[in-house]
Amino acid sequence: CSTATHLKIGQKLNEGKTKQIFELPDQPGLVLVQSKDQITAGNAVRKDQMEGKAAISNKTTSCVFQLLQESGIKTAFVKQHSDTAFMAAHCEMIPIEWVCRRVATGSFLKRNPGVKEGYRFSPLKLEMFFKDDANNDPQWSEEQLLEAKFCLAGLTIGQCEVDIMNRSTVAIFEILEKAWATQNCDGIPTVFVAVAGRSNGLGPVMSGNTAYPVINCPPLTPDWGSQDVWSSLRMPSGLGCSTVLSPEAAAQFAAQIFGLSDHLVWCKLRASMLNTWVSLKLADKKLQACSL
Ligand SMILES: *[C@@H]1O[C@H](CO)[C@@H](O)[C@H](O)[C@H]1NC(C)=O
Ligand SMILES: *[C@@H]1O[C@H](CO)[C@@H](O)[C@H](O)[C@H]1NC(C)=O
Repeated sequence: CSTATHLKIGQKLNEGKTKQIFELPDQPGLVLVQSKDQITAGNAVRKDQMEGKAAISNKTTSCVFQLLQESGIKTAFVKQHSDTAFMAAHCEMIPIEWVCRRVATGSFLKRNPGVKEGYRFSPLKLEMFFKDDANNDPQWSEEQLLEAKFCLAGLTIGQCEVDIMNRSTVAIFEILEKAWATQNCDGIPTVFVAVAGRSNGLGPVMSGNTAYPVINCPPLTPDWGSQDVWSSLRMPSGLGCSTVLSPEAAAQFAAQIFGLSDHLVWCKLRASMLNTWVSLKLADKKLQACSL
């Protein structure tokens, strides 16, 4: 990250518990989001410890934003300015905190007695909280959010906006979960094989609802088979599932996809190629011996 270049800092626009927001007079549309840790730290010893922690946190924060940005998720983040500040788009904040969980822990257990720590949510568990310090950020329902009829920057928060926030939270969670899983090497590699007769739209529909690879393997019948295959081949834009006609080919292709990240699968495929070649070579030799 770049060292703090000179940036003309304007008036303070807002201040929360951990951050201050400053106008940037030379950068219309942008603000500076400054961490308050440096200012509020107490005695020198404590300050040292906090600074070390802050640096790691901030690095994580900006790496997360960068990953989201590079993935194509729109965020307010523009760039890191210093160890404790970043530049962001000047936005109005919808006063809702969305929380997405894969496992039950922390405050969820207190609010849902009887649920054991570590309970796994599939699909993900989504919750929302109204940002209201005075009332300790109460949990809200979707209906409460709709009835609040928030209007921010000229936009009224209705069902469409709520659905977008909901889906965005889930997508961002899945992106971060995926990124962290590669660090722990515990991600579950997944390929879907869609097998549906007649007008087999199953694979394309699945493909539109997952980022994992989908292989169509329609069971073709003599009567309508040649027409039915078109549902797997001619798809709406944005879909990229493949189509093969035999179950063996579907398994082979799935194995090749797994082989990209699993060297044991790749080794089996490579050995199988060799074994096929050797048996053809031997058969050829036998054939030549017969014909001589
Ligand atoms: C830096 O880290 C501290 C401590 O975790 C945090 O409070 C602060 O918001 C972070 N600053 C930025 C700019 O992300
Ligand atoms: C998010 O959307 C899903 C699916 O539409 C819905 O079941 C869920 O209740 C929503 N969650 C929240 C917190 O609004």
